[in-house]
Amino acid sequence: MAEESVTAGLAAYERKESRKVVVAAIDGSASHREQVGTALTSFYRVAAFEDGDLAVSELIRMPPCVILVDETAPPYGGARVIERLRKMPALAGVPIIYTTRNDRVTLAHDVRQMGADAFLIRPYRRSALIRSVSRLVNKSTEAKWERLAPESRECLRKTVDLYNGISDVIDKDEPISYGDVKRACEPLLAVVQTSTYKSMLAGVRDHDNYSYVHSMRVATFLSVFGHAIGLKDGDLMVLATGGLLHDLGKMQIAHEVLNKPGKLEPEELEIMRSHVIRTLDVLDGCPDLPKGVMTIAGQHHEKLDGTGYPCGLKGSQLNELARMASIVDVFSALTDRRVYKPPMPPEEALGIMTAGMGNHLDRDLLARFRDVLLSASSA
Ligand SMILES: [Fe+2]
Ligand SMILES: [Fe+2]
Repeated sequence: MAEESVTAGLAAYERKESRKVVVAAIDGSASHREQVGTALTSFYRVAAFEDGDLAVSELIRMPPCVILVDETAPPYGGARVIERLRKMPALAGVPIIYTTRNDRVTLAHDVRQMGADAFLIRPYRRSALIRSVSRLVNKSTEAKWERLAPESRECLRKTVDLYNGISDVIDKDEPISYGDVKRACEPLLAVVQTSTYKSMLAGVRDHDNYSYVHSMRVATFLSVFGHAIGLKDGDLMVLATGGLLHDLGKMQIAHEVLNKPGKLEPEELEIMRSHVIRTLDVLDGCPDLPKGVMTIAGQHHEKLDGTGYPCGLKGSQLNELARMASIVDVFSALTDRRVYKPPMPPEEALGIMTAGMGNHLDRDLLARFRDVLLSASSA
């Protein structure tokens, strides 16, 4: 996987639209470069450089969103590589993370003096790298969350933190704490009982982690749907947490496949579809996980006519939860903003789903979902 996720130099820029999602890593150690590529696999494309001079000359043509510089970066060490990067006007505004083994008292001060924005001490956890890159890339997006209502702000902060932290649990093959997931989703249950969920969703949309954005949108729409049809606290929590966790397995899928514009090749499609089984594997060892959460994760790509995956379940084999999840998942996917497509207006998405997916989706529930969303938008 690592080999696929690290690209030498500017080959990572082969697609024009990918520029914003490239993280550059300047590090003399092949194993470090590989580690970065693996850790960021589903989040960013990694352009790896083993030489600082080469990196500077290439990166000024195509600035990435973040640059990681190791203290030993050839040819003359991380501090001087950063000095060179900072002298280039094209790279002046690109955040830099300095990586080091040396946990000295003056480190924070030294890093600031060098011109870096953050540091990581080796060995670091996968989540620490993801959080550090994500905070720098999403600085302006997350700053806008300050203007949201307190519950919405809390909801986004807690869920993004949980989502980034789950990468460690997946890496270490440890069980997810359902208590932590519930705590992160508690503010969401308060938010969906008011119309403020719309401004919260507007706030999450610009976040660069598409899997998080999509999962938050699914969690929110599922909870809004559940609330509108009269479900209460325990059931709403299953919808919220199930929505947030339903695509977790995508964290193990390479960015190139996950964000590929256009049609996937058969083998890529197979990898993409494997996210359901991967998600179930991750959730399997989680104590106290409600069955409904497994149903949402395991059946959100099943279709009423049996043409869905992974099991090809049909008709009455799909309970109400699975039917709601597949409606909300399709709606969210159509109305999500992607690097390669603008979001589809909700009315258009609902129109397409009603006219063309009658064999896949539960028509009655879809009509109710449509009513819920349209009445919410006119409120
Ligand atoms: Fe999915
Ligand atoms: Fe999904």
